[in-house]
Amino acid sequence: MPAVAEFFVVKRLLSWSIAVYADPDLIPFEPPAKPLGLRWLPTLWRNYIETIPRAAYEGGVVRIQRRASDVLLVCDPALIGEILVEKADAFGRDAATRRAFAPMIGDNSLFLAEGAEWRWQRRAVAAMFRHDALLSFVPLFAAAAGRQVERWRAAGKAPVDAAAAMTRTTFDIIVEAMLGGTASLDADAYSRALAISFATIPWHLVYTVFALPAWMPYPGRRRAVRARLFLQQDISRLVEARRGVTSAQGDLLDLLLAARDPESGRTMTDDEVMKNLVTFITAGHETTSVALTWTLWLLAKDRATQQRVHDEVAAVAGAGAIGATQIEGLSFCRQVIQEAMRLFPPAAAISRLAKVPMTLGDIQIGVGARVHIPIYALHRNDKLWPAPNAFDPDRFAPERAKTYSRYAYLPFGGGPRICIGASFAMLEATVILASLIRAFRFEAVPGHRPKPVARLTLRPQGGMPLIVTPR
Ligand code: HEM
Repeated sequence: MPAVAEFFVVKRLLSWSIAVYADPDLIPFEPPAKPLGLRWLPTLWRNYIETIPRAAYEGGVVRIQRRASDVLLVCDPALIGEILVEKADAFGRDAATRRAFAPMIGDNSLFLAEGAEWRWQRRAVAAMFRHDALLSFVPLFAAAAGRQVERWRAAGKAPVDAAAAMTRTTFDIIVEAMLGGTASLDADAYSRALAISFATIPWHLVYTVFALPAWMPYPGRRRAVRARLFLQQDISRLVEARRGVTSAQGDLLDLLLAARDPESGRTMTDDEVMKNLVTFITAGHETTSVALTWTLWLLAKDRATQQRVHDEVAAVAGAGAIGATQIEGLSFCRQVIQEAMRLFPPAAAISRLAKVPMTLGDIQIGVGARVHIPIYALHRNDKLWPAPNAFDPDRFAPERAKTYSRYAYLPFGGGPRICIGASFAMLEATVILASLIRAFRFEAVPGHRPKPVARLTLRPQGGMPLIVTPR
């Protein structure tokens, strides 16, 4: 048999064997065979990803027309490139995203701003996310990971909740990186307030479908308003305190306070600075925490891969500090995190609203058309990913990673609005993962099958119990 044919036969056999051994736990639910009828709204309220029909896992474009809503699910990488890159200016944030987030982060902070308002804010904070600036955060990542190692060492043998622990660790990091060491925020109170506030997201999704006004009551609304005010007032206090002093911290708060729009010359008000800080704190910790939580669970179930991660960390860092010079060598750690985010993308979908009429591929769309990119389904499309439900970090080995279509893998989105914190998050997650795997063996709790639920991020419902044993 010619070598090329042999290669393809071996490759196919390999992907079948991976498919055969794909762990059923990695297929948390069967997608509906066709768009849901009456069950659609309650399912949307409970868990967005369970509304995505099977056809969306097969590529192309799926149009879902209902009396109350008309959405295009775009699952074709070429068309996704058109939306996120080539025609990026023709799309804006959709109404549901705006409605869910604006009360907390303001209508005009980096995440929700559009056009020139978005551009100058993005430029203003870019310095913080350049490669050399990011490497200077590595000691901070390692120190926070080290504190988590100590907490787990002290915890004894009972299963720990890895989801809560990762939230705590990534929260400590984001606060210190964004606000400097001087800020003392109560991590537990913040996490609670964010959870209360974002627990109302399903109501915003459903109310947007029916175009109900913003004042419409829903359960938990008053608690959510109180939680929001607590966060906003606390951060405002920090902004006010910093306004009066010349600081050389070089953190995000400094950049925001000094930012000036080159076109209009305008600067940010304290309220705008505060809302951008809340944006970064919110966008910058739960996403990374969720990525790490699923990574630890996947490794807990796959002892051989866990051992490979451990061996890599031992070879690269030994028992010493994990610093900026070790990062390059932790390539398998990065692959594992990338693969975990393929199976469980922390942001399960990206939504857009068409601002002008246009053609997308050969489809005509009008002003106000709603477009969803269901990342969760895209990442499990078997035409794009061999054995899509299997955990196989080697698919992100440099040679293989090159073979995938650019817009088949979108944990951080793409185009001009790609996650500004993508490299920050990858660096942070790599340092935390390496530190934890070096210190502990992770095992799944027998019989526990975590269920991913899409709210703010794709979290395991009820947390993630894991058995953690010191090495
Ligand atoms: C694993 C971790 C993370 C994931 C999966 C993630 C995912 C995403 C995605 C998918 C978007 C684009 C949304 C869209 O196009 O509609 C986004 C935007 C954003 N992310 Fe992240 N993110 C992560 C970590 C972070 C971190 C650490 C920060 C801050 C330090 C951050 C700050 C932001 C901001 C400010 C935006 C809005 C950017 C803009 O619109 O210009 N994210 N993120």
